[in-house]
Amino acid sequence: MNDEIKESFEKTKIAGSIAAGALDEVSKIIKPGISTNKIDKICYEFINDNQAYSAPLFYRGFPKSCCTSTNHIVCHGIPSEKKILRDGDIVNVDVTAVKDGWHGDTSRTFKVGEVSIRAQKLVDTTYEAMMKAIKIVKDGVHLGDIGNVIQNHVEAQGFSVVQDFCGHGIGQAFHKEPNVLHYGEKGTGEKIKTGMIFTIEPMINAGNYETRVLNDGWTAVTKDKNLSAQFEHTIGVTKDGYEIFTKSKNIEKIL
Ligand code: MF3
Ligand code: CO
Ligand code: CO
Repeated sequence: MNDEIKESFEKTKIAGSIAAGALDEVSKIIKPGISTNKIDKICYEFINDNQAYSAPLFYRGFPKSCCTSTNHIVCHGIPSEKKILRDGDIVNVDVTAVKDGWHGDTSRTFKVGEVSIRAQKLVDTTYEAMMKAIKIVKDGVHLGDIGNVIQNHVEAQGFSVVQDFCGHGIGQAFHKEPNVLHYGEKGTGEKIKTGMIFTIEPMINAGNYETRVLNDGWTAVTKDKNLSAQFEHTIGVTKDGYEIFTKSKNIEKIL
């Protein structure tokens, strides 16, 4: 690995650890009765306390420091004082920290109190799909191979892969090439190379894959109002594998 790649990996890991740290803080306060704005506050403060800033805040007019996507919200839910979490909800919290110009982007879906068996299965399947895809990453793998692993795992459980949003290259820019689709055919698409940094962030629906965006211009929901879950890591490609830059420091098992 050349020095330029080493530096980009080191810097992304620092930003990624801050984003993951924010989610670790959020995990401690998730419970019925809190507002999604409280989650936003925790993220804002943790990121600022670590001398970093939040990439979503004011990104294309987005008003908050993280996305909070409950139940049938697929992604880009806007934190609000009015949105109170209830027992049985699931909520994805998506955080992107910028440190020294480099981005780290990660999300987890949290369970609020006791959730249904179906919600639990959706969350588990989504996490497994992301991890299965990460584990095949190495120099020379096709992007289509990554999508294929996710799609196969998810569809075997009777769930569907969202097609309207995808993973993305990341670095000194929040979103850059390539697009990392969470479905696809083996052996198709660009070959990934040592030094590339991108996210894998499957959004998985309990029902149909279709989504629509609400009038606020951000909130994406499932058309059929069924549940949706998501996990996201920022990773780097190496000759023989991968490095995850957004690992949780103190939570071994995040499900
Ligand atoms: N963090 C999201 C992603 O994974 C993007 C959020 S953009 C925002 O790419 F403006 F909605 F915050
Ligand atoms: Co992302
Ligand atoms: Co994200």
